[in-house]
Order: sequence, then structure tokens, then C-alpha cells
Amino acid sequence: MKSTVFWTLLPSFISASLVFGVVPISSVKRVSNQATVPNKFIIEVDDLSNIPTKRSFGRSLDAVYASLQERAVGFDINKEYDSAGLFVGASLTLNTPQDAAKIANTPGVKAVRPVVRFDQPRPVKSHVVVGANDPQVPPDSESTHILTGVDKLHAQGITGAGIKIGIIDTGIDYTHPFLGGAIGPGHKVIGGFDFVGDAYDGTNTPVPDSDPLDQCNGHGTHVAGIIGANPGNPFNISGVAFEASITAYRVFGCAGFVTDDILVEALLRGVSEGQDILTLSLGGADGWTEGTSSVLSSRIASNGKIVTIAAGNDGASGSWFSSGPGNGINVISVASLDNTVIPLQNATVQGVAHNPITYFATFPLPVTGQLPIFATSTDITVADDACNPLPDSTPDLSKFVVVIRRGTCTFVQKLTNAAAKGGKVFLIYDNGNGFAGITVGDFTAALIQAADGEFLVQQFAAKAPITISFPQVGGSTDFPDPNGGLISSFTSYGPSNDFFFKPAVAAPGGNILSTFPVPLGSFAVLSGTSMATPFVAGSSALLLSVKGKSKAVTSAARTLFETTAQKVGSSKTDGDPLQTLTQQGAGLINVFNAIHSTTIVSPGELILNDTANFKPVQTFTVKNTGTTPKAFKLTHVPAGTALTVQAGTIFPADGPVPLSSAAASVVIVPTSFTVRPGGSQTVVAVFKPPTGIDKTTFPVFSGFIQVGGPTAADTAHVSYLGLAGSLKDKQVLDDTDVFFGVKIPALLDSAGNVQSAPVNYTFVNGDVPTLLWRQVFGTPAFRVDLVDPAIHFKPTIVSRGFHGLPFFSFPRPNKGGSFAQVKIVGPIVEFDFITRNDDDPASLPFNTFSLDAPTFANGTTIANGPYRILVRALRVTGNPTREEDYESWLSPVVGVQVPA
Ligand SMILES: *[C@@H]1O[C@H](CO)[C@@H](O)[C@H](O)[C@H]1NC(C)=O
Ligand SMILES: *[C@@H]1O[C@H](CO)[C@@H](O)[C@H](O)[C@H]1NC(C)=O
Ligand SMILES: *[C@@H]1O[C@H](CO)[C@@H](O)[C@H](O)[C@H]1NC(C)=O
Ligand SMILES: *[C@@H]1O[C@H](CO)[C@@H](O)[C@H](O)[C@H]1NC(C)=O
Ligand SMILES: *[C@@H]1O[C@H](CO)[C@@H](O)[C@H](O)[C@H]1NC(C)=O
Repeated sequence: MKSTVFWTLLPSFISASLVFGVVPISSVKRVSNQATVPNKFIIEVDDLSNIPTKRSFGRSLDAVYASLQERAVGFDINKEYDSAGLFVGASLTLNTPQDAAKIANTPGVKAVRPVVRFDQPRPVKSHVVVGANDPQVPPDSESTHILTGVDKLHAQGITGAGIKIGIIDTGIDYTHPFLGGAIGPGHKVIGGFDFVGDAYDGTNTPVPDSDPLDQCNGHGTHVAGIIGANPGNPFNISGVAFEASITAYRVFGCAGFVTDDILVEALLRGVSEGQDILTLSLGGADGWTEGTSSVLSSRIASNGKIVTIAAGNDGASGSWFSSGPGNGINVISVASLDNTVIPLQNATVQGVAHNPITYFATFPLPVTGQLPIFATSTDITVADDACNPLPDSTPDLSKFVVVIRRGTCTFVQKLTNAAAKGGKVFLIYDNGNGFAGITVGDFTAALIQAADGEFLVQQFAAKAPITISFPQVGGSTDFPDPNGGLISSFTSYGPSNDFFFKPAVAAPGGNILSTFPVPLGSFAVLSGTSMATPFVAGSSALLLSVKGKSKAVTSAARTLFETTAQKVGSSKTDGDPLQTLTQQGAGLINVFNAIHSTTIVSPGELILNDTANFKPVQTFTVKNTGTTPKAFKLTHVPAGTALTVQAGTIFPADGPVPLSSAAASVVIVPTSFTVRPGGSQTVVAVFKPPTGIDKTTFPVFSGFIQVGGPTAADTAHVSYLGLAGSLKDKQVLDDTDVFFGVKIPALLDSAGNVQSAPVNYTFVNGDVPTLLWRQVFGTPAFRVDLVDPAIHFKPTIVSRGFHGLPFFSFPRPNKGGSFAQVKIVGPIVEFDFITRNDDDPASLPFNTFSLDAPTFANGTTIANGPYRILVRALRVTGNPTREEDYESWLSPVVGVQVPA
């Protein structure tokens, strides 16, 4: 079956700066929109011996269930997790969501976390290869291996044999001939499990079975090929670790998302089935290290496994937008790098002097002879060229190369119209959208660049005697990818809000050819951090196959990849700084050096934190595991300082995040030394943040201490990351009217209008208030409380229409006060560790919370009467007990008037 799937480049929807049109407030749905499942929670329980109410129970979960029943908490058990030392707990559905507060206070419960949804892995770009004429098949299919030294390891026979990798994804089409053709012991795919079934979409009930076959989605099959495709296929590609054994854990259906209670199950099963490496090409913007699957992935990593997880494809949304579960502290979060060249074809021009014309195809179009050209329009600015049937005056086009301008309608529609007049060979010229592979169905057609197309149209208009031919041999050309070798712009930027180094490293993930389900075309080119992640999983298998699977090796793996990585620039322009480490991590992995280097540097990350928590003095060691003494020279190599917030505003800078060349200064002691074989040297580095830089941009500075050895292979680096500012100074809540044209936060009434005066709500037939807010930064705690309408409280955010009301006059601004002293009637809801919003209407542009029932957080009914809603958001690194560390907003009067 021939099939072509095409997603547009997701980040291209987003404006480069703060120019989003005002979003009509009427478009806001008056329902809660958190990425959590409302009444599902994952509890984690203590060891039985630590539970005071253990009585005669044999399992800590049973003791906790009994306590919950005594507290009249009604619940259903969805799943139980019983991995002593890793995770003991359960996924529960509560009859009353408000009972979550009671669970938190139940003896034996260590943590209650909401169940979070994770998106279906969205490839940034997807293209099914349709055969030998396909435009996107690189002739040097090993280019990603060459970039990373994997080719040299393969030449040494290092291919991952004996290592087990668990892929948590959409399943695998193991019937693919280059993925072994079957499943079970002795095959490449040695086993697996389907936790969900084809029809699962993240909202319905999963239907598990033992067969992880995926022939409807493809993502997991592409991931599997990056790790394990057998060599000898028509495209000359091979997996990074093609002799490793793969197990397929299927957690996505054919479409939709997955909830993390299922991820927890898959992760624990991977551990219990003895996987050495677990890889997850999935996630969503999160910003914190605290989510259940982030925490569990991190624990699994510190317990002797290697866990690789995608850094995320939200690069367009800017900094501080790292992805979970890749945020797990000990996991390897993976950024994507674009390939260096695109192998394309040249056509030649006769009759007039002109250079060859490069067209976007890997193999020549199957056309012989020299053909004259016919342009469907002589206007080189026409927007909708050939979108309508061509005029009757059009000649028979069968002897021409038909030249058409891109735009307005699909390529296939243009080609169909030209084919109706006999056209057989077509060149479509770009209109500024970008030179790339295009979808042309079964037509003999390819894209050329705008200037070439305009030249051809002008020659046609001038009736020049021009012809074109398509050499069947010798027309290949390496078209330099303008972004090749740079970090893919879609890679999400860190750091996490709690200042962890995310992403950790980069691997090739842009324009990757790999296997695809047989019914969906067998091969495809995809782009995303989803593609970079299995590259590092495969590289980890090569590492373990050489160094063994001991915990010493697995726990050093990330540091080895980081310290031997290759620095990546921010652009191709000389003099531009290196890319911020908040997007490249420690650089592009060099797997050969990670495995063979005899210069071992540790730790790989120096986290300086923000100025309020500054750790200026850092140490690391340089060890010589070689057989000869090595002389080292240490130098400071700064990267660009990321200006993460638009100067003078509260808004994040969208990606590509602007860089400044203002760098930190570092004193390194000693700067040169010799280390004998088996010896090591401790180095101290003392950092000062860059100066003369606008603090309102919350500049994140980063770079490397280069440990230069006698040869390139002896050279390594440590990476550092710091903020020239204090996170406690960063405003969390959007208090402007920029996004909606009205000031927020706001309460929407049941008609969707912003409430500006007292309103009574009946809580019948949807007559409820909805809180609308945006966050320009993450917060560790977002609280909503009900307060007396006449409260004496000065919120930090003052909406229009509140000025002059008496309760603002006391207490006086900046005078004393603490969180506990603010008198509330009762809590409504609290969200912990939530990420900021971005300005992409298709993703996370704002938050809503509807108070669907007139109850407090604990389920107790709110008495009829007038109240206000007090919203408080704790600043990052703020002290939760200090009212001064919160931003706050007080709503207009909300009348609870439930009819008797
Ligand atoms: C694959 O490799 C073989 C041997 O090197 C070569 O002859 C052939 O052209 C390659 N095919 C492609 C599609 O690159
Ligand atoms: C292909 O065409 C381009 C553009 O004219 C030219 O720069 C390049 O040298 C050509 N490549 C080959 C291999 O002829
Ligand atoms: C940075 O400092 C904050 C405040 O002390 C702390 O909570 C956080 O864990 C630190 N981050 C790292 C990676 O050490
Ligand atoms: C809300 O209901 C109360 C009690 O019936 C009434 O006194 C008050 O005027 C009502 N307020 C509004 C804004 O309708
Ligand atoms: C529930 O919370 C409300 C408001 O804080 C409080 O008045 C009430 O006593 C609580 N009820 C229970 C059963 O704890």
C-alpha cells in the first residue's frame, strides 16, 4: 500500500515574538483544562513496618485501603504497583474527587499525585518513503552514524549484542523484514506487551493483550528501526545497535494519548523483565522533576538501568519549558540535531546559460531527453497557480516540463489540473515556504527553489528556446542543509524550574530515515526528539556491550556521553556563540569517544543555580585510565547566554531563544597538569555570572570547561549552567490584557462573560464560575481559596474595577503577614508543580478551572452566601509559608446561591 502522511512543522504556527492576536474570551471553554484526569490519582505507600495502622495486614496497600474506608473515601482500584524499592502504590479512581485531600492525610500514604496525560508522540515532520524515486532517502544512509562515531564502532564489530532494550511507545511492526519478521525468543524483537489495545485513546478503557504489534500508528516502529534495523536493506540504513534485543511495550493506541498510570506499569514491567535500557520517545511540557513518571524513571535510572527520554518538541515555546518524564533527575533527556546535508538531484538547462537546477529528490526523476518548458502562469507572484482547471487555450502539455508556483491549494490538486491538459513531468517552484520534500502522489514532480522557478517562468514568458533534462546518472548533489549540524529548532529548551540540566545531550533526530509498519509503507523519514532518543538508547547498548551492565557503568553512562560530546554552534555564522546548553545539553554525542576515551571526567554537569542559591565554587576530577601519562590544559569555552524573557516584559522569549555573548567568568585551578596512568586530578572552578546584561531577560548562562588532552580523543569537557538573576524575582501570573484583550486572572460567569461585579451562582445546569488564568512561569503551588467578601487583604494583582475598594487599604503593602495568617473560609483546589503556559493556541495557552460543585476541596458543601475567590501562586524558590512569596489575586464577589 502506498500511503503518505504529512504533518506540518508544528512550531511554524507560532509567531517569533509576542504578536499573537488577541484571543477572544468567548472562545474559552468553561471547563477545567488541566492535563490531569479529574478523579484519578496515583498513590505511593510506605513500607508496612512504617504504617501505624498496619494491624494484621500483610501488605501496606491493604492497610491504607482499610484506613481510606474508615474515612468514608469511596474508590475503585485501577492498578496496583508492587515493586519493592522502586514503587509500591496504586492508581485509584475516587467516587468524589475532593477526597484526594483525605488520602493525603491517610497514614502510610507517602505521596498522592494526579494522573497526568501524555501526548501521542507528535513527529515534527513525517514522510513515508514511497520507493526508489522518493525525495527524502539519504544515499549516505549512515550519515547520522558518521556524525556520532557509531560507524567506527560498527567497524569494530560493536553492535549491541547481548543487551536488552525496552521500547515504551506505540508498539512495533515486528513483521517488518528488517526488524526480524517475527516476535519471540531468538528474534530481534524478543517479546512485549500491549497495555492498551488499538482503540485506546487515553480517555477510554484500555484493553490489554500480549501482542504489541503496531500496524496503524508507526511511531514505535520508526523508533525501533533507529535502534535495531538490520543492515542489507534497500536504503542501506542500519540500527545503532542492530544486534541488541528489543522488547515492545505498547502504551499508545492507534491515536490519542496515554495516562501516566499506564506508563508506571510499563516502566515497572520493563524493570521486572530485565531490560538493561528503557527508552521513551514521549512526553509533554512539564517544567518540573516531580511528576510520577519522571520520579519513577529517575529511580529506575539510579537503580542500575539506563533510561533515555525525549527532551520534547516545544522549542518554539522558549525556555523553562522542559518535558516530563524526560525531566526525571537521573534520566538522559535527549535533544535533536539536524542532519548536515540533504542528498538531492540536479536537472540541467539547455538553450540559455544557466547553472544546474537542484530539485528535491534523492533519485532522478525518470525522464529522458530534453523537454521544453510550459509555465501555467507568467506571473511569478501568483498565489494560487493551477489551483483551478487550466484554461481551454492551454496546449497539450505532454511534451513539456510544466512549471507551477507553490501556494494556496495542495500540490496534488495543481498537478491534477495540469495533468488534465496532458502534463506528465512537473517542477513546482517554492513561494518562500521552504525547500523541502513535498507530497506529489503518483505524479512525476519535485520542488525547486523560488529563484530557479522565477528564472524558468521569465524564460518562458520571453519565449526563450530553453529545454530541461534530468540526468539519470551523475546528477546527484549534496545540498547543504542550512540548519544541518545545528540543534533542531523544535527541541524543547530547559532548564527545569528546579534548575536541573535538561536536556542532557543531543543526537541526530532531524530528517531520519527508518523502518515503518509494512502496511504503512515500510520506510519513512521522521523528525523529532522522538528520533534522537532511541539513538542514545542504541548508543547506550553499545556502551554496555563493551563495558558490561554493572551499576557502575549504567550510572556513569550519562556523564560519559556528556563529557565526550561535541559542542554545537547556534548558527553557521562565524563569531556567533555556541548554542545555549539549555537546548543542546552537553552537545552532540560521540559514542566512539564515550566508549573508548581514557580521559574520564566527572561530574559532567556543574549546576550553579540562580544568584539567590548560587554555587560558585565547583569541583570535578580528571582521571587518566590510559597507559601513558597525559598532559592537560583547561580552558573556559562559554556558550551563548539565553535571554529567556523578553526584555522589560513578563513574557517568555519564544524560540529560537535570543542569545547574548556576555559570558560568565571562571577561575580554574589548576589550568594545566599531567596525570599519570591510573591517576586523577581534582580541579576547582570558581564562577562569576556575566555582567552588564539586562536582568529582566532572566539570562541563563552556560558553557564548558574544556579538558584538553594530548589528542582530540583525550579531550573532554564539563558543562555548567547558571542564572544571572533570582527565580524568586520572576513573575508567575500573567496580569496583563495582552492575550485576551481583557485583564486576567478573571472569573467567567455562566454566559462566558468576565465577571466585573457581584454574581450569584446556583450551581445548577452549568451556572458555575470558571477561573481563567495564564502563567508566564511555572509555579510549585497554585492555590484557590474561598475567603470572606470583606477580607482585608491586598492581592499583588489588582484588576481594573477594584481600585478604591476598602479591603485594599489594609494590611499595608510590604508589611509583615504570612501565608497561614491569611484568613480563609476554606480551600477550593491546589495544583502543585505546574508548568507555565505558552502562546501556541494549539498547545497550552491558558488554564481554566470550573468550580463544578459548591464544595470545598475536602468535599464539604459551601454554605450559601457571598464570598471572594483568592488565587495564590508561589514563586519558584519561594518559601511556601511566607505570604510574601506568593502572587495573589482576589475575585469579585461570588454568591453561592444553591436553591433549596
Ligand atoms: C547501498 O550500498 C551499496 C554498496 O555500497 C551501493 O552500491 C548502493 O548504491 C547503496 N544504495 C543506496 C540507496 O545508497
Ligand atoms: C548542482 O547544482 C547546483 C546549483 O546550480 C550547483 O551549485 C552544484 O555544483 C551542482 N552539483 C553538481 C554535483 O553538479
Ligand atoms: C536550585 O536551588 C533551589 C533552591 O534552593 C533548589 O530547590 C533546587 O533543587 C536547586 N537545583 C539544583 C539542580 O540543585
Ligand atoms: C445574591 O443573592 C442574595 C441572596 O438572595 C441577594 O441578597 C443578592 O442581592 C444577590 N446578588 C446579586 C448580585 O444578584
Ligand atoms: C472541610 O473544609 C471546610 C473548609 O475548610 C471546613 O470548614 C470543614 O470543617 C472541613 N470538613 C471536614 C469534614 O474536614
